[in-house]
Amino acid sequence: MEVHYHDYLQLDKILNAQFPESDRHHLPAHDEMLFIVIHQAYELWFKQLHHEADSVVTILSKPALNDNSPELQTVVHRLNRCVTILRVLVHQIDIMETMTPMDFLDFRDMLRPASGFQSWQFKELEAKLGLKFEQRHGKEYYTAQLRKEHVAVIKKAEGNKSLLQFINSWLERMPFLKAGADTSFWDHYKKIYGDSLAEAEKNNLAAFDDIFYGQPSAADRSLSPPACRAALFIMLYRGYPLLQLPFQLLNALLEIDEQLSSWRYRHMNMVHRMIGTRIGTGGSTGKDYLKAAADKHYIFREIAQLNSFLIERRKLPALPAEIEKQLGFGLV
Ligand code: HEM
Repeated sequence: MEVHYHDYLQLDKILNAQFPESDRHHLPAHDEMLFIVIHQAYELWFKQLHHEADSVVTILSKPALNDNSPELQTVVHRLNRCVTILRVLVHQIDIMETMTPMDFLDFRDMLRPASGFQSWQFKELEAKLGLKFEQRHGKEYYTAQLRKEHVAVIKKAEGNKSLLQFINSWLERMPFLKAGADTSFWDHYKKIYGDSLAEAEKNNLAAFDDIFYGQPSAADRSLSPPACRAALFIMLYRGYPLLQLPFQLLNALLEIDEQLSSWRYRHMNMVHRMIGTRIGTGGSTGKDYLKAAADKHYIFREIAQLNSFLIERRKLPALPAEIEKQLGFGLV
């Protein structure tokens, strides 16, 4: 049978899936249609983000990903697609904000206790990317409003190895300056870094030791010291051909966090404008809950933190000739 646009896209289902509560109550509220459609659009994009994240995890879960292979390019390409989708999600709030607080009040009470708080796809995505249960604001609370089967989905994602943990394994496999090798490079680096610190920043040296040489099992950390050394090395020497894609990968993760955070802040401000200091339909403290989650839920914060340990480019230690050769295009 010929494929037809209408069937292929299952438009019968999608276009017949909007049932305003205000219609059911015979209290017409024009803007409820917008409210439903925009949430559905978000959920579809969340689905696509899962599709991309799953594919990236599948590639990274291979025991030996060659940084010189097309696979790493695919990872970077798909993560950048996630960034672009997230940018659109941030902008969609503009459309939501064409609804005024009075328009919202026309149907808001009919929604209780439904809330975006019950978006299991959103929470599953956070977990899949690497947000741990221990790092969540309110701990158990975040699943309090979910159905049992949706809690199970999120717990499963939390139990699986996350994207951030796969990134950790990938970084640990980086072949340059591995543990046990000559430590003189990092000793030298630490000295230059220490000399670059202002008096009030000298504590950073203790943090340096902790992050790059501390105990790898710290419960609140996903990146081990060898992985952090590899990531810093990539950031510092990203100009070398072999490190360009790895650098783009790390950068894409930071961009994902930044876009997620932009979304959280825009959503929070919209909520404040829409309902002021009233509690949410999901029963949370509303804006205060959202602010705490926005402040806490940075997923790739350990990568962002590494930027505190950079030094000026002109002070970078010259690399041993052997490593420099490996990082180039293989010229003799
Ligand atoms: C008039 C528009 C909106 C209002 C007033 C609003 C309000 C709220 C409030 C108060 C919360 C906190 C939980 C609660 O007590 O309900 C919340 C959470 C949430 N909302 Fe919205 N929301 C709106 C639009 C949206 C849209 C369009 C989305 C897109 C999917 C969305 C997704 C979420 C998500 C994912 C959470 C959970 C955030 C987290 O736990 O960190 N919201 N919303």
